[in-house]
Amino acid sequence: MANLPLFWQITVVVLTIAGLIYLLFLGIMIYYAKEPVKHEVMWDETLEEGQAPVPAWWFWSGISAAIFAILYMLFYPSFGNYTGLLSNGLISEKYALSKAATQDDYYRKTEKLEQTDIVHLQFDAEAMKLAKNTFVQYCASCHGVEAKGQPSFPNLTDDAWVWGSTVDKITQTIANGRKATMPAWGIPLGKDGVDKVAKYVLSIANNNYNEKTHGAGKAKYQQFCVACHGANLQGNPAFGAPNLGDSAWLYGGDLATVKQSIANGRNGVMPAHKDRLTALQIKLLTAWLSRNN
Ligand code: HEC
Ligand code: HEC
Repeated sequence: MANLPLFWQITVVVLTIAGLIYLLFLGIMIYYAKEPVKHEVMWDETLEEGQAPVPAWWFWSGISAAIFAILYMLFYPSFGNYTGLLSNGLISEKYALSKAATQDDYYRKTEKLEQTDIVHLQFDAEAMKLAKNTFVQYCASCHGVEAKGQPSFPNLTDDAWVWGSTVDKITQTIANGRKATMPAWGIPLGKDGVDKVAKYVLSIANNNYNEKTHGAGKAKYQQFCVACHGANLQGNPAFGAPNLGDSAWLYGGDLATVKQSIANGRNGVMPAHKDRLTALQIKLLTAWLSRNN
């Protein structure tokens, strides 16, 4: 109701007050009327208009509502250009000021974080706390609260990075997601072939390769697997093919699980987060995850 012309302000104020006084007066008159006002209107044989005064609770709730209205109008902006007793420097203004200050603070902090590079973010305890909170909220259901992973969901705190450990690669992984495709080799290799190649892979991972026992598996590996996992089992970040020669396993490094990975294939999916997170959140997460690299 800001800036009404004076004439209308006065009109609104006078009419509102006059209306309230009239209502109060009417209520009191009716309540205390000795003789109920007689009317000719009969609704049926027993119900006659004007027969009895209104019930007391009804009367008092009307009066309280009127008093509430008056107090409200006294303290808060309610008519004309009157802003209310409380608005001049008290509650509302203070609230507005503190809200503005909080927002200001928030935007200043956000802007500062946006301009800080990854390395400096990693030394900013508050920024890292924010990152950890975001991780817990968006990523922990799969990767665990401490980012140590679980079967099928990679550990993000070790040195084994399937899709690359640089800031650019991690940012891409989080923003756009990743889809890994390991084909099933059960049919081309046969049961025996799967067994042999699995044992060969494990002999490299566990450092106990023996030409006599593992030679046949090695030949199969070079035929079927080398294109993605590499001549030295080092993997290839371009396809998300993991290093098979280290101790980090996405699905598990026991013989049965390795055989299962080979025979049935694997299709791990890291969902894209660019529509769920802001660029700043992704940057903070990347800083947090790559702080040990
Ligand atoms: C087309 C590329 C490709 C070929 C060929 C391929 N793999 Fe894979 N392999 C992958 C990818 C990608 C993954 C990761 C799957 C995932 O993350 O869900 C994978 C995962 C695995 C895993 C699971 C590793 C873990 O950490 O749990 C094993 C074991 C494996 N491959 C063995 C083999 C063997 C043995 C061969 C040959 C018979 C082979 N792969 C051929 C792409 C390939
Ligand atoms: C629905 C489960 C799920 C959620 C939620 C999830 N991830 Fe993943 N993430 C995966 C899976 C599965 C993989 C492995 C994909 C593959 O097979 O290569 C992965 C892979 C990754 C990788 C690649 C690791 C490497 O070795 O290269 C990073 C980094 C990552 N996630 C970070 C995150 C972050 C940060 C979040 C939260 C914003 C997140 N993830 C949320 C399932 C999830």
